[in-house]
Amino acid sequence: MNTQHGPKLIDRYSPSERLNHWITAITFLMLAFSGLALFHPSMFWFTQFFGGPTWTRILHPYIGLVMFVSFSLLALKFWHHNLLTRNDIVWLRRIGDVVRNREEGLPEVDRYNAGQKLLFWTMIGTISVLLLTGIVIWRPWFAHYFPIDIVRLALLLHAVCAFIIICSIIVHIYAALWIKGTLGAMVRGTVTRAWARKHHPGWYKQVTEGEKH
Ligand code: HEM
Repeated sequence: MNTQHGPKLIDRYSPSERLNHWITAITFLMLAFSGLALFHPSMFWFTQFFGGPTWTRILHPYIGLVMFVSFSLLALKFWHHNLLTRNDIVWLRRIGDVVRNREEGLPEVDRYNAGQKLLFWTMIGTISVLLLTGIVIWRPWFAHYFPIDIVRLALLLHAVCAFIIICSIIVHIYAALWIKGTLGAMVRGTVTRAWARKHHPGWYKQVTEGEKH
């Protein structure tokens, strides 16, 4: 266990994992704003952040490719921590107690809780569909290879998945800010022992096992 930060802090994310996460987050925000600008006239003014309407339209799919690659690396690193277990089902059934801060007696949470895991698989599903449908509707490169009805269906699915993932990321950001000490994990790479013991006791036991004499 790394003790170079002092005895109170433990490592949660390496610098490369954090860089990977923030590239994903920044490209996601760019996609959300450029996508919403193209989606509805009331948000058309967002195009000024991307160099005007033409540049917004040109850049959006390329930024999408960057986010897909960046997110895929993140997902490859973390998927095995996000497999749902029997304990996760019990935790989900008692979500009311979690929200009311009555976590005693709940199954031990490992590296991620069931909410984080469900969000992770929602990201996997929506980002995969966004990539596939994005290619189908990408003019002038690929759209002409597909019948117009397929392009229309892809447009609809693209918008539905964008809506789902924007809502999911709002929840993700809200949870990161709401649970005190979580943001530090993705900013500095470390969390306090108290945070780990309270929110991820199973993970805390695993990472501190080597400390026992
Ligand atoms: C400004 C926006 C964002 C903030 C403030 C934020 C914050 C965080 C924080 C604090 C964690 C650590 C949680 C923990 O260790 O318990 C985290 C993990 C993670 N974030 Fe974000 N995030 C943002 C955007 C995104 C976006 C856009 C994506 C993907 C599209 C994303 C994907 C992930 C993933 C995959 C993890 C690892 C959790 C897991 O594997 O279940 N984040 N984020």
